[in-house]
Amino acid sequence: MNAYELIKKKRDGGELDREEIRWLIRGYVDRAVPDYQMAAFLMAVFFRGMSGREGVDLTMAMVHSGQVVDLSGIRGFKVDKHSTGGVGDTATLVLAPLVASCGGVVAKMTGRELGHTGGTVDKLESIPGLTTELTGERFVELTNRIGVCLISQTTGLAPADKLIYALRNATATVDSIPLIASSIMSKKIAAGADGIVLDVKTGAGAFMRNYEDSLELAQTMVKIGEGAGKRMVALITGMDQPLGRAVGNALEVREAVETLSGHGPEDLTGLVLELGSEMLLLCGRAESREQAGEMLQESLDRKRGLAKLGELIRAQGGDPKIISNPDLLPRPKAVIPVESPSSGFVASLDAQAVGMCSKLLGAGRLVKEASLDPSVGIVLHKKIGDRVEQGEPLADFYTDNDPQKLTAARDRFVEAYEFSPEPVGKPRLLYARVDKNRVAELERG
Ligand code: URA
Ligand code: CA
Repeated sequence: MNAYELIKKKRDGGELDREEIRWLIRGYVDRAVPDYQMAAFLMAVFFRGMSGREGVDLTMAMVHSGQVVDLSGIRGFKVDKHSTGGVGDTATLVLAPLVASCGGVVAKMTGRELGHTGGTVDKLESIPGLTTELTGERFVELTNRIGVCLISQTTGLAPADKLIYALRNATATVDSIPLIASSIMSKKIAAGADGIVLDVKTGAGAFMRNYEDSLELAQTMVKIGEGAGKRMVALITGMDQPLGRAVGNALEVREAVETLSGHGPEDLTGLVLELGSEMLLLCGRAESREQAGEMLQESLDRKRGLAKLGELIRAQGGDPKIISNPDLLPRPKAVIPVESPSSGFVASLDAQAVGMCSKLLGAGRLVKEASLDPSVGIVLHKKIGDRVEQGEPLADFYTDNDPQKLTAARDRFVEAYEFSPEPVGKPRLLYARVDKNRVAELERG
């Protein structure tokens, strides 16, 4: 076999067989296939796409480029959740303990920020003392003991994806559905769960901005996961504006605590109940959507999910007192309101721009080596549909008071808003549910 012929085959619209795909991925990881040939192949995939079978073979070749996590030491059906990336998407911090408090087993690997989106590991690390760097044995032990554990993705997981992702980033081949699907699913499959609930974002703040592409991505990932023997469900959900009110690390932990206490923002709470229901159904803890919803609601009402978050924090070395006193989380130097330049109804709120503003304030890394400030970020007071008067605060900036950062973030932030003189409806939160059998349109939200 040689790379030249495989590139040519794909360039001309042909289909590669399993052996050819394996050979290419193995060759690339071993450095027998150089960057320029892999880059040409990726560009051919970008233009020609891949069949469902090719997608599964590519994903599995990437899974087997590294270690596969063995979760067999954990009792019960392990359910994982993955979001394709949003802004202020606090959902995992709420869902993992909430689902565990209803009897689900959540042994989850999670990542750091990517592009304009935040990462759960960064958020968790804002909790004093907490670590996400645990050995495999400790991961298994803690999950068996309390039903939930969140660790950072080990570097040995799907190394082919890491190499290919960096190459895609430099060759304008990131936004290809088969390449995104195989990238995400290779890591999810290698992480060892039995079932996976995907939250596929659509809209201005998502990697996939339009619904048709999001649907195709969801269907492709469901097919790949089922092909690998996992039980899969995907929800397509709106990411036109940030989720909830908080964007930032400690700020989102605080928002998670509020949501688990039953008084979280409506959109975040609604999304958590939908994704949580799918997780409980997938792992067999609930028999109907209605029952799943009741279990989750009861857990919120009795603050059982909140107590579970406390257990998780303690087990992972953090200070569990933050759940009753979130003021123990890192606090910024200053909280500065950002005033509205005009009066009217908020017509749009560009989530991607808000994500970037939060980074500019220091909540993310602008260069790879930078460290982030866990205390800073944004709390939104006005979201799409809200009425606002000129001079009223749109948001509070939590900041270290560096005037340069503040000015840059403020200018960008005000531009993220558009106003309308006419009333504007709330954006849609739920679009569709995809499983291996069908696509069902969702009404709520
Ligand atoms: N997230 C990933 O892990 N991979 C992609 O290709 C896109 C988003
Ligand atoms: Ca949020």
